Amino acid sequence: MHAAATNARSTGNAIAIVGGRPLAGTVRVSGSKNASLPLLAASLLADGPTRLRGLPDVLDVAGMLDALADCGVAIGREGDALTLDPSTVAGEVEVVSPGSSRGAICLLGPLLARGVSVSLPRPGGCAIGPRPIDVHLRALRVFGAEITFEGDRILARAGRLRGAEIDLRGPHGPSVTATANALMAATAAEGESRLSHAAREPEVVALARAFQSMGAEVAGAGTDTVTVRGGRPLRGVAVDIPPDRIEAGTWLCAALAAGGDVRIENVPIAELNAVLAICRDAGASVERVASDAVRIVTSGHPRAVSVTAAPHPGFPTDLQAPLTAALLRADGTSAIDDAVFPERFGHLDAFRRFGGRVVDAGGEVRVSGPARLRGAEVDAGDLRGAAALVIAALTAEGRSVVTGKSHLDRGYEDFLGKLAALGGAVTTSVTERLAAAS
Ligand code: EPU
Repeated sequence: MHAAATNARSTGNAIAIVGGRPLAGTVRVSGSKNASLPLLAASLLADGPTRLRGLPDVLDVAGMLDALADCGVAIGREGDALTLDPSTVAGEVEVVSPGSSRGAICLLGPLLARGVSVSLPRPGGCAIGPRPIDVHLRALRVFGAEITFEGDRILARAGRLRGAEIDLRGPHGPSVTATANALMAATAAEGESRLSHAAREPEVVALARAFQSMGAEVAGAGTDTVTVRGGRPLRGVAVDIPPDRIEAGTWLCAALAAGGDVRIENVPIAELNAVLAICRDAGASVERVASDAVRIVTSGHPRAVSVTAAPHPGFPTDLQAPLTAALLRADGTSAIDDAVFPERFGHLDAFRRFGGRVVDAGGEVRVSGPARLRGAEVDAGDLRGAAALVIAALTAEGRSVVTGKSHLDRGYEDFLGKLAALGGAVTTSVTERLAAAS
């Protein structure tokens, strides 16, 4: 394994990277951010404390914990688990914590199911494109909720929810967090609910499993039709957060880009079939070395591949930018499309600053390579875009600075520490640089 090199200067929200080194060693994937958020929200439905083990230490989880605290959930620690006790949550609650707005949408279903009225910030669009919540609202209204808006806040209340037929399809496929919201509402609703066009993402399956262990009758999670017989009492249980498939995929993309020999541990391999197939098409050797570990060996000179990000089990939209970064230096022309978030291409300008040859050809991005990438100063606009810019910088000649580290911190636990342990020449602080130089 290479020693972590820290030979460039940067400030707190900036990352300095010196490119051109292959990655080598072992990296361990943390708990899934996108599974954590609905599982945290689901704790509101238990009749006692829920214990969650393996929550990732990321800002989005911290934001969700703040939102739950606003709701009156008592949050504590017990060994390696976080405990969440909702027993005093009642009446009307107001979510005020900043940083919680997007994840907090997952609170609607369980709060309404508990008969609690809620006021929470209305999530706006973001750097990956519009983020409407019409599917969430439609579903919750069918269960019997009353939802209105006051300025930039959502006001929601409900009496006893009724089991219902819910269609979770949006214009770009099923909505993942709306499926989670509907599932949470359905477990408390009187009678049977049938969720059609449900998202099949592993995060929905993890939520359904947690509900089953709490005592709910849920069937079909992981298919596009989920049925729930609601109204049973749900007990507080211990839940292990599953590993983060998107973090695992990000390390695969980093290795594909930089070249090297990386063992990735705590990998949900079965959830990554589309990603592993693309890595192999791009020329990487990827083998399963344990039930939950893969080894990727790559030259750092991938082959061009074409991919359309799609709902699970398709190639994940959250890995579209990291993969594109790896393809900047690939031999040939790659075509990249995103059917889930068609406007999720804010990272392309930054790729061009590195010298990447990318063209937005109206709904499809073409990447011509191999481009010779040079270090650049670039600004990240979103979480996965930030990871993508770091990956591009790993393959660029010389020094790069990526600003917007806070985006990375929203969803990756200790990304830069893990990258440095693999030999990436990356640093975020002057102090570290001085320590390394002495
Ligand atoms: N959509 C609607 N109406 C809705 C909801 C969604 O039109 O009411 C559209 C969206 O605009 C998008 C598509 O449907 O075009 C899919 O959106 P979805 O609702 O599935 O996204 P989400 O549930 O808000 C989760 C993840 C995202 C991930 C997407 C897709 C969480 C907290 N977020 O978002 O993760 O990209 O599913 O897989 O689970 C990330 O981690 O960086 C991230 C953005």
